Formats: sequence, structure tokens, C-alpha cells
Amino acid sequence: MMKKVMSLLMAAVLVFALAACGQTQQTKPTDSSVTDTQPGSTSGSEETPAQSEPETTESSESPETTASSEASETTASSETPETTESSEALETTASVETTDTVGKTLIVYFSWSTSGNTEKMATYIQEQTGGDLLELEPLNPYPTDYEECGEVAQVERDENARPKIANLPESIAEYDTVFVGYPIWWHTAPMIIGTFLESYDLTGVEIYPFAQSASMDTEQFDNSMEFVREYASGANVHDGLFVSASDTEGMQAYLEANGFAQ
Ligand SMILES: Cc1cc2nc3c(=O)[nH]c(=O)nc-3n(C[C@H](O)[C@H](O)[C@H](O)COP(=O)(O)O)c2cc1C
Repeated sequence: MMKKVMSLLMAAVLVFALAACGQTQQTKPTDSSVTDTQPGSTSGSEETPAQSEPETTESSESPETTASSEASETTASSETPETTESSEALETTASVETTDTVGKTLIVYFSWSTSGNTEKMATYIQEQTGGDLLELEPLNPYPTDYEECGEVAQVERDENARPKIANLPESIAEYDTVFVGYPIWWHTAPMIIGTFLESYDLTGVEIYPFAQSASMDTEQFDNSMEFVREYASGANVHDGLFVSASDTEGMQAYLEANGFAQ
């Protein structure tokens, strides 16, 4: 009997023990289910930094940051064209400004002698029109000696050369009116005038040539006008002004006749 009681007691202890084990095993999945709530942290070693370092979140954001910096790069690179677009927009604005400043005038001239006769004319025209003044400087300066300069200029004319200009503007698109001044050289315009004219698309540009010379031979001036008309591609070349450099009345009359009176 005692044995039976003992056996029952033992059995009861076993049942309790097993019941207790069963409960412990059930908590484990709960724990692991907690672990499992951290996706992306499949392995514990990866979880740790992910959990313990918010920076990791940030560092996991790093790629995002990278991504976002990529995005911003992309944005930047996509901005590049935008930048281009915006610079285009600026250009457009610039050209709009150009349109706004219809009547913007450039007075460009070449003058060689120490008297600066063409320069005097250019200055007068600039004063009367309020335009911008530009003196063309040859990249290879002409000899200061008259005879030597004459020889160089003659060769250039004979070869229809295009001597380089040291200060050639990249663009003159902002100007819709261009006065082009020069002394007569070898019965026509100096070849540097051809260089200037051929450097741009002058379509639609209003060109007003002006010149003077030692002889004031109108036939030579006519030759120079022919030269300007030939090389000012697309421009509207008006009849030019051919008066001596001191003839401000003649200059004024020409300006008024062409609508530049102030
Ligand atoms: C190389 C050269 C060629 C010239 N050829 C002529 C010419 O064919 N006909 C003329 O009347 N004067 C000619 N001249 C004189 C200039 O046209 C004149 O001196 C002019 O006033 C110079 O203008 P600038 O002071 O703007 O240089 C020539 C002068 C030079 C230096």
C-alpha cells in the first residue's frame, strides 16, 4: 500500500514537472517571436547594431542618404540640365533683356593712325546714340611706320586676308544696331573689318558703316560699302556715312536722317 501511495506521489510529481516544462517551452516561441519581429535582422549580429545604434538606422539611412544624396546627385545631375535649363533660362532672360533693350547699339571701329580719325567719329556717334564703344585691336599690331603698315595692309587686301582680332567679343547678339567704322585702306575697308563681320551671324542686324580717308574719294568708300555688304551676312546694311572726322554736322545729319537724333 505504501508503495502504491509512493508511486502515485511520484506520478503526481512527474505530472507537475512535465507541466512546468511545457510552460517554459511555450515562452520560448514568444521570445523568439519577439526576435522575429525584427525583420531584416535575420542574424543576431546584424540585429545588434540595428537595434543598439540609432545611427545604424541612420547608417541604414546612410544608403538612403546616399540614395538621397544620389537622389540629390540625381537631382543635381538632373539639375545639371536644369541648371543648364536655368542657365538657358538666364540666357533666355538675357536675350529677353536684349529684346527689352531693342535699339541697343554697338559702335565698333578700327583706327590705326595717331590722329585717331575713325576713333573721333566713333566717339561722336557713341555720344549721340548712347551705344557701346568697341575699338578692334589687331592680334598682330600693324607696324607703326606708315610705309610698312601700307605694305602689310596691301598684302592683306590682295589676299582678302582676315587678320585676327585680339579683343573680339564672343557674341554681339545683344546688339541689333551696329555702327562699323574704319579708315579707307587701299581703296576699300581694312581687312580686319571683314574679320569682325564674318565672326557673327548678323541676320537682322542693322549695320551703319562710317568711314573717312585722306583723299575722301567716294569711289573708294563705295568699294568699302560693297565689301561690308558682302561679308555682313544676313545684315541689313544701310547707306554709310563718309565724312571727314571733324565734320560733326555731317555726322549729326546722318544720325538724324537714320533716326538716331536724341
Ligand atoms: C595702310 C593704309 C592705306 C591707306 N589707303 C588709303 C587709300 O586707299 N585712300 C585714301 O584716301 N587714304 C588711304 N589711307 C589714309 C587713311 O585713310 C587716313 O589716314 C585716315 O584718316 C586714317 O584714319 P585713322 O586715323 O582712323 O587710322 C591709308 C592709310 C593707311 C595706313
